[in-house]
Amino acid sequence: MSAKKSAEHSAASVMPPPYPGEYPKIVVPPPGPKSKAWNVRDKAVVSQNLTPDYELVTERASGMVVEDLDGNRYLDFAAGISTVSTGHCHPAVVKAVQEQAERMLHICYTDFHYPAYIELCEMLAELAPMSGKKRVFLSNSGAEAVETSIKLARIRTGRSKIIAFYGAFHGRTLGTVTLTASKPVQRLSCGPLLPDVFHTHYSYCYRCPVNRKPDSCDVQCLELLTDSMFHHTVPPQEVAAVLVEPIQGEGGFIPPHAEFLPRLQALCREHGILLIADEVQCGMGRTGKLFASEHYGIDPDIFILAKGIASGMPISAVIARDEVMKWNNGSHGSTFGGNPLSCQAALATLRLLRGGLIENAGKVGAGLLKKLRGLMERHPLLGDVRGLGLMIGLEIVRNRDTRAPAPAERERIVRRAFERGLLTLPCGKSTIRLSPPLVCTDSDADKAVSILDEVLTEIEAAG
Ligand SMILES: Cc1ncc(COP(=O)(O)O)c(C=O)c1O
Repeated sequence: MSAKKSAEHSAASVMPPPYPGEYPKIVVPPPGPKSKAWNVRDKAVVSQNLTPDYELVTERASGMVVEDLDGNRYLDFAAGISTVSTGHCHPAVVKAVQEQAERMLHICYTDFHYPAYIELCEMLAELAPMSGKKRVFLSNSGAEAVETSIKLARIRTGRSKIIAFYGAFHGRTLGTVTLTASKPVQRLSCGPLLPDVFHTHYSYCYRCPVNRKPDSCDVQCLELLTDSMFHHTVPPQEVAAVLVEPIQGEGGFIPPHAEFLPRLQALCREHGILLIADEVQCGMGRTGKLFASEHYGIDPDIFILAKGIASGMPISAVIARDEVMKWNNGSHGSTFGGNPLSCQAALATLRLLRGGLIENAGKVGAGLLKKLRGLMERHPLLGDVRGLGLMIGLEIVRNRDTRAPAPAERERIVRRAFERGLLTLPCGKSTIRLSPPLVCTDSDADKAVSILDEVLTEIEAAG
């Protein structure tokens, strides 16, 4: 069998069964009456800060399809914020969770061991693209894993300062919101925050922070770290870690310049600073490689994973070099971290990803990117179309020459796409993120492109 045929064969064997019906299919303009009624109940009792981008109330989901309470079927290009990596309710993941549920729900790994936790740590340690021996700590959420990595970096290096990037999202707990530099509202009125956290500019080439063009770029954005920060305010010998998303997620689905991460790593090594790669959003095969860092050939000291790792079950992981993951007994722990159900879901997910879904994400994603770039020819609202695999951002602009962001138009596109049966989410100031489950097919991609084409035409015509 040729290499191409064998990749297609392995992808076919891990794909979920086809959805038994037409999708997307809107039978009642959303939100329909049943959804509206639940939204009223939501408004009365749920913490009022949880206001979604549109009023979808879900009934069930399968593969690429989400059904609402009113019988509408949506094509899911949001995947629970890049979480449902193997599609909704993949039979292999559901089976793994069900079988574990019948044996044991919880016991707390801090005190009592079980094989699934150890198996998952073994698998993650084997797969993480890091040199040397590795160790793994499991927790419940992305933010919890980020907190873990920061504690570890401080304990290990005996240094306190942490550097992160503008546009980054690392969570909203009090510690992680200090590292997050996405929107001011996320930190408004909750200070004082964690001391000794500093931010510098990410390699956002469409909006270069140092105004370079591709032909004059030598990754001068890193000089904002070396010449400004290290030279004036932050002694590098006091920096414990640099925390970076290998591809920025919430900040706008931004793959950095090819040289940015390797040079950042070289800087870290020069100053004895740990490099932490937050792959919560960009990891787990979404970009066509298991770890996004693999695209850039870096060898971080710590990896952070969550979201896509268990197809929607709550779990996160910190993978660190053996010499880095050394701390005192009792210095860290978690009651629910790495619970048996989530570990089994993660093991099943990893088998599916490695069995063909990573290749599928790379292949379908490359085709999708090409088709979306084709839309740029007739849609001036599309300022930039970028991404790797199935992590694709559409940056919406008012004017291509000035690149003026168009957040209002972006909101309308996301909204109208929803009304036509396509689920997407915003990110950054003016970007739409496309992050479907990795079981997305070329036909699903074509449907999404066609809806976006219609919506862009409509919104451009309305002016
Ligand atoms: C890169 C990154 N890190 C950390 C987090 C926080 O994860 P969680 O919401 O599971 O706490 C997120 C969430 O969007 C993220 O995108």
